[in-house]
Amino acid sequence: MQHLIFDSHAHYDDEAFAPDRHAVIQALRQQGVCNVMNVGANLDRSRESIALAAQYPFIYAAAGIHPCDVKDAPADYREQLKQLLSQPKVKAVGEIGLDYHYPDNAPRQVQMEFFQTQLQLAKQYDLPVIIHDREAHGDTMDLLQAYKPKGVVHCFSGSVEMAREVVKLGMYIGLGGAVTFKNAKTPVAVAASVPLEALLLETDAPYMAPVPFRGKRCDSSMILYTAEKIAEERSRQGSPITAQELLRITRQNASRLFNIPLED
Ligand code: NI
Repeated sequence: MQHLIFDSHAHYDDEAFAPDRHAVIQALRQQGVCNVMNVGANLDRSRESIALAAQYPFIYAAAGIHPCDVKDAPADYREQLKQLLSQPKVKAVGEIGLDYHYPDNAPRQVQMEFFQTQLQLAKQYDLPVIIHDREAHGDTMDLLQAYKPKGVVHCFSGSVEMAREVVKLGMYIGLGGAVTFKNAKTPVAVAASVPLEALLLETDAPYMAPVPFRGKRCDSSMILYTAEKIAEERSRQGSPITAQELLRITRQNASRLFNIPLED
């Protein structure tokens, strides 16, 4: 079978997969998945991502400290992260960024410091970044403009105009299950307008399952539903494309960004 699905953002280390992790991951290959980028959220979970990448040839890892985990990071996080970033299957720094949604997150200034430190590490290790931006579009764009990293803004939630700015910087737009949600006006407008060569597909598994699985545990095979929705929307707006073509192109995009060779 053809393996056309490259999931550019998943968390198979999450406890939601504790009961049957191996079975779920094994099944992905039979469901058309070629590769998975398993993204770390803190130092421990980055180590778990690296362990998964060591166990399964088609999984790769990102290491980083998520803005929601900044408040619990140890003082020597930078040194520890450097060690993780030099491991062979670590292909990105992530996820990193800003989250102004939750009031108990670290103060904005502290989040910005961690974000900048990790943007600098990405430069130093010549790795792309995986950006988390929740309700922090202005500060996120300021730092992306200043550092001009290679990378992707994952689960993109900004406007069509912001997407254009991100693409102008040479970065990618990551879209997942949210484009299939009933009230998803802006993500759908972004999905229809972003240049194909700047688009990545993702799940954020176990979260963000696309319709018709919304609210259930998500896995990478469900990307098919996201691809179908985006292909349908682009076709409706005058740029006909099939879900298969979309999967093929976004798979090449992910391979290029993360420097991961495709097998078939
Ligand atoms: Ni995530």
